[in-house]
Amino acid sequence: MMEMIKVNNLRKEFITYEKQPGLKGMIKSFFNAKKIIKTAVNDVSFHINEGEIVGYIGPNGAGKSTTIKMLTGILTPTSGEIFVNGLIPYKSRTINAKNIGVVFGQRSQLWWDLPLNESFTVLKEIYQVNDADFKERMDFFNQIFGLQEFIKQPVRQLSLGQRMKADIAASLLHNPKIIFFDEPTIGLDVIAKEKIRQTIKEINKKFKTTIILTTHDLSDIEELCNRIILIDKGKLIYDGDVDNIKERYGSKKQVKFTLKTEEDFFKVDVINEFSHVDPKINIKFEDNTLSVIFNKQLLGIKDITAYILNKLDVVDINIEEVSLESIIKEIYKDGLI
Ligand SMILES: Nc1ncnc2c1ncn2[C@@H]1O[C@H](COP(=O)(O)OP(=O)(O)OP(=O)(O)O)[C@@H](O)[C@H]1O
Ligand SMILES: [Mg+2]
Repeated sequence: MMEMIKVNNLRKEFITYEKQPGLKGMIKSFFNAKKIIKTAVNDVSFHINEGEIVGYIGPNGAGKSTTIKMLTGILTPTSGEIFVNGLIPYKSRTINAKNIGVVFGQRSQLWWDLPLNESFTVLKEIYQVNDADFKERMDFFNQIFGLQEFIKQPVRQLSLGQRMKADIAASLLHNPKIIFFDEPTIGLDVIAKEKIRQTIKEINKKFKTTIILTTHDLSDIEELCNRIILIDKGKLIYDGDVDNIKERYGSKKQVKFTLKTEEDFFKVDVINEFSHVDPKINIKFEDNTLSVIFNKQLLGIKDITAYILNKLDVVDINIEEVSLESIIKEIYKDGLI
């Protein structure tokens, strides 16, 4: 199996200077501004094989975009090693650019004032895509994204969803070996999201494209990725498959009770009843449904249902494994232990 990305002890520190308010402060800062070192990526290591789809996730400010920027050659690491398809990205930006596609959901890579079709013509020249390939790929994008509907408009006039589709199409035009998607489904409606996920899957299958995806939408991850890399405060805290994280940390279960009347909810105090056994037991109440989320190693479904059924009129009961989303939420909140 070919290794497409190798990252060893990768580190990025940002140096900023603290400014003080006012003229006096300005003068003071000028002579001895306080230097602040922010470690955005803290000695992270991972290897990614050809054809993998990896979710690179973590809370806001974790260092995801900074990592992607180093992998694409936009930023130079403070220390550590990176190889992308055998190249060191910040040293070989131009050649690296031919191997990779990049989408930053927050910011377009396209020319703001050019009509979209002209952006594609420019990209065709930059990447030296031949006429036949260009036609075939544009047809494909038209089919999935309906680009022709807005292809004559300048990029700045496009709606968010149209702009994202255009950006994704642009990143795929030269059929790159590796694609970095930094929040590719941000702000999109469910149908657009689904189209983009389908496209990512299709490209991956057809061309064995390696895909690194950052997103806050964990259903993207559940649908697309077999592996996740989780970082927090610049440090790698998990690297492995999605099922495994569920097994290791998904010790939680959820029982939902649909109540006959809403007022019934106030007749029970689940947390008070069970927190001496499971201190992290949690409840939600929504649409007449009381959900109890508990640690299945500490508490049995039997105990909870017995308590509730004894006190309330219950119309329906549902037992669910907790979703990746809530597992990750717990990890962000409490750490891994
Ligand atoms: N150019 C910069 N100068 C100084 N600090 C920076 C710079 N770029 C990023 N940072 C800091 O580095 C940390 C990591 O930022 P980064 O953008 O990589 O986070 P992220 O994981 O992509 O977060 P989000 O989910 O919000 O997009 C943050 O604390 C951020 O403030
Ligand atoms: Mg980011």
